[in-house]
Amino acid sequence: MSIEQLTVAVIGAGGKMGMRVSANLGRSQHNVLFSETSPAGQERVRAEGRQITDTEDAVGQSDVVILAVPDVILGDISRSVVPQMKTGAIVLTLDPAAAYAGLLAKRDDVVQAVAHPCHPSVFLERTTKEEWADTFGGEGAPQNVVAAIDENAPEETKAAAEATIRIIYAPVIDVHWVTVKQLAILEPTLVETVACMIGTLLNEALHETVHTAGVPEEAAKAMLFGHVQIALTNALRGSNPFSEACEIAIQYGKDTIIKDDWKKIFDDSELDYVIGKMLKLDAVKR
Ligand SMILES: NC(=O)c1ccc[n+]([C@@H]2O[C@H](COP(=O)([O-])OP(=O)(O)OC[C@H]3O[C@@H](n4cnc5c(N)ncnc54)[C@H](O)[C@@H]3O)[C@@H](O)[C@H]2O)c1
Repeated sequence: MSIEQLTVAVIGAGGKMGMRVSANLGRSQHNVLFSETSPAGQERVRAEGRQITDTEDAVGQSDVVILAVPDVILGDISRSVVPQMKTGAIVLTLDPAAAYAGLLAKRDDVVQAVAHPCHPSVFLERTTKEEWADTFGGEGAPQNVVAAIDENAPEETKAAAEATIRIIYAPVIDVHWVTVKQLAILEPTLVETVACMIGTLLNEALHETVHTAGVPEEAAKAMLFGHVQIALTNALRGSNPFSEACEIAIQYGKDTIIKDDWKKIFDDSELDYVIGKMLKLDAVKR
C-alpha cells in the first residue's frame, strides 16, 4: 500500500458521515470509491457528481474500507465486507461501540481501526467566518480525533490509517491513539452520557424558565448562553473563580439534580449496559 496514493472505499457514502468523509476524500490525491445501497443515498452521492461502485468491487481493490453505516448493522456488514478485503488492508469504523462489543468480523491479515471526531473545541480560537460556521468539524474549523487500532498493526499501516483519518476529518490538529475501550469510555460515557445529556438538560431548564416561570425568552437565552460560556471556562480551565454565592448554588444544584451514585457510569458493567442498549443487543460479549 502506498500512503501517497491509497484506494479508499466509503461504504454508506450517501449517509450523514458518508457524505462528509466523501467530500473531504474527494479533495485528496487518493482514489476513492463510493458504495451506497439506498435509493435516496445513491441520489445524494450522484448529486455531488460521484459514481456508485458495487460494494464487492470497491472493497476488493481498497487499501482502506470505511464503514460509514449505522452501528446496529455494522456486525452484519463487516461479516460480508471483511472476507472480501485485500491482505494488509484496513477496515475503519467511525464509532467505537460495535468494535467494543466485539461485533466486527476479524481477519488476521486485515487491520481494524476506529476513529471518532472530537468536534471543534468550545475553546477553539476561531478567527474566520468559516471556522465559526463549522460547529461539527470536517469543514472550516480544526478539530482533534481520537482513534484506536489493532495493537500489532504494522507501523506503515498505522501511518496509512492516520493519513486517512486526517483527511476524512480535516482540518485535524492531533490524532490521539487510545484503546477501543478507552474510546468507548470517551464516547458514549464522557461525551454522550454526560456532556450531551447536560446539553439537553440546559434546553429543558431554558424551557421551564420561559414557559413555567414566565421569564421573557430573549432575556432567558441571553443570560443562559453567556453563562454557559463562563461556566465551562471556569469549571474546565479555571479561568475565573466562581463566587462564594455561586458555589453554594452549584452545591444546591448537585444535591437536588444529581444522584449520589452517578459515577457508576464509569463501571465496566454500565458501559456494557449502555453500549448493549445502543446496539440493540441482549448483552455485550467482549
Ligand atoms: N451522524 C453523526 O453525527 C456521527 C458522528 C460520528 C460518527 N458517526 C458514526 O458514523 C457511522 C455512520 O453513521 P451515520 O449517522 O452517517 O449513518 P446514516 O444512517 O446517516 O448513514 C448510513 C448510510 O449507510 C447506507 N447503508 C446501509 N447499509 C448499507 C450497505 N450494506 N452498503 C452500503 N451502504 C449502506 C444507508 O443507506 C445510509 O445512507 C456510525 O458508525 C456512526 O456512529 C456518526
